[in-house]
Amino acid sequence: MPKQRILTGDRPTGKLHLGHYVGTLANRVRLQDEYDCFFLVADLHMLTTRVERELLSETAQNIRDVVLDNLSVGIDPNKSTYLLQSLVPQIPEMALIFSMLITVPRVQRVPTLKEVMQNLDIEQPSLGLLSYPVLQAADILCVRANLVPVGKDQASHVEVTRELAHRFNTLYGEVLPEPDALIGEVPTLVGIDGQAKMSKSLNNGIFLSDDAKTVEQKVRGMFTDPNRIRADVPGRVEGNPVFIYHDAFNPNTDEVNDLKERYRTGKVGDVEVKKKLAAAINAFLDPIRERRAEYERNPKLVQEILVAGSDKARAEADETLRRMKDAMGLTFFK
Ligand code: TRP
Repeated sequence: MPKQRILTGDRPTGKLHLGHYVGTLANRVRLQDEYDCFFLVADLHMLTTRVERELLSETAQNIRDVVLDNLSVGIDPNKSTYLLQSLVPQIPEMALIFSMLITVPRVQRVPTLKEVMQNLDIEQPSLGLLSYPVLQAADILCVRANLVPVGKDQASHVEVTRELAHRFNTLYGEVLPEPDALIGEVPTLVGIDGQAKMSKSLNNGIFLSDDAKTVEQKVRGMFTDPNRIRADVPGRVEGNPVFIYHDAFNPNTDEVNDLKERYRTGKVGDVEVKKKLAAAINAFLDPIRERRAEYERNPKLVQEILVAGSDKARAEADETLRRMKDAMGLTFFK
């Protein structure tokens, strides 16, 4: 039996943070041996929200950052395939075909659309932004992936992918898999400011590439139980960002349970809870920092990985598109 396939990806819009880690990167690392994995840098998706020349000039650096983030958490480029979306032209071709198989009201109902429009103050979506999930379906299906590890916010896009695969198969025969989403253990990580979601645009994240001092500083300023004005006042552990992070990143459960117990009974100060959290996060990030430094020593490496990986993905996408066109009767000249 050949291995099942994974495809997932990131837009090159900035560095990845702890929210990405618990949402999707941890699953990528965990499953890289069991599955044939493809990791995509979605530079065409990036264009759905930024087209300004000045912003686009940051893209090369952002691509590098996002690949280094994936490499540094331990996704081995010798086992997995890294690809750059714009180097695989079969993806937009496939997306065009898919766009005929889905209605405008259906994509208008995708919840992330409203969110992005609200966050970025967009009054009317471009055609490209509207069809964001259709392009994502092409990413996933071009390598005939079975599983898509993503954060919770992406589940609706994988649902569109399943519907498109199903519709295609119903019309033309079984060609495409209907892939499942795999949501991380912490579906959405709160920000250090206590806002619902850690997000680069909200400026409330701890990045995988942050140094130890930055982590200490950010943790020191973290939002906790706002009703707890002194260390001897009993505090709330549930929903408290500091303890959510302890649960997610501190492997020492005895320490975490002891802190929780003392917090609930007003026997520990925020300073101690946060100091221990910063230490845990730094211990978690240390091997990631080391791997990053190792990979950064070769400045050509990211490009080499992406070019080779995109070649491989292109061959797969070519095969998928050939099967699709065969099934559709779109191959007039043989
Ligand atoms: N939309 C994803 C995000 O914003 C990135 C992405 C692009 C992706 N193509 C993908 C994720 C394919 C999974 C599969 O995080």
